[in-house]
Amino acid sequence: MKIIIVGASGAVGNTAVEALSGRHEVIKVGKSSGDVQADIEDVDSIRAMYRQIGKVDAVVCAVGHGHFGVVHEMTSAQFMKGINHKLLPQINLLLEGFDYINDGGSFTFTSGVLNRDPIPGGSSAAAANGAIDGFVLGAAVDMPRGIRINAVSPEVLEVSRTKYDGFFRGHVHVSNEAVGLAYSKAVEGCLSGQIFIVE
Ligand SMILES: NC(=O)c1ccc[n+]([C@@H]2O[C@H](COP(=O)([O-])OP(=O)(O)OC[C@H]3O[C@@H](n4cnc5c(N)ncnc54)[C@H](OP(=O)(O)O)[C@@H]3O)[C@@H](O)[C@H]2O)c1
Repeated sequence: MKIIIVGASGAVGNTAVEALSGRHEVIKVGKSSGDVQADIEDVDSIRAMYRQIGKVDAVVCAVGHGHFGVVHEMTSAQFMKGINHKLLPQINLLLEGFDYINDGGSFTFTSGVLNRDPIPGGSSAAAANGAIDGFVLGAAVDMPRGIRINAVSPEVLEVSRTKYDGFFRGHVHVSNEAVGLAYSKAVEGCLSGQIFIVE
């Protein structure tokens, strides 16, 4: 398979690279890193990425961030960070990708743990995650030509333990291998409309 992995250089994206690159042609995409550079917050940049890469069998996206801060101090603009930087770019990858995804191909998004196991200050990220998971469920029934859509929703990665130190009290940390297997199942498996929880 020819597979685009957006966010390939990141902690989560790298698990997909590790899980899939031995068996498939992986094209790594990042904003400033990778084989191809694209800013997926910019629809024109997404279009240029697809034009450059051409037809593919799978698109994986592990990109995004939201605002962290307690809800009674959050502004509307801060709340929208989760929507604009995590939800919308992934949905635009799908909307712009139909002309480039082969029959029977797949899209795999990344959400996360915060909409099922919240932490203080995590409501913007929780809302984005919930919207991603809901979109996957809803869109799966509409997908044409046997194209599948799924999301991977990991707990905090072991490799990100230091980055999030103190924020996710009591949460488990998951291995790169476990997260990579979820991307493998999403891309190489047969299911659609699934949220693959890794915890
Ligand atoms: N880390 C965790 O423990 C964890 C757990 C659950 C869910 N998640 C979710 O997984 C996603 C990725 O997190 P991460 O920790 O892997 O982040 P990360 O290590 O900071 O990596 C981010 C990746 O995304 C790319 N990127 C950033 N903005 C981009 C843009 N506008 N267009 C294209 N590529 C862009 C970066 O490329 P450049 O380096 O080239 O800029 C990099 O490859 C996030 O949505 C996060 O909420 C993470």
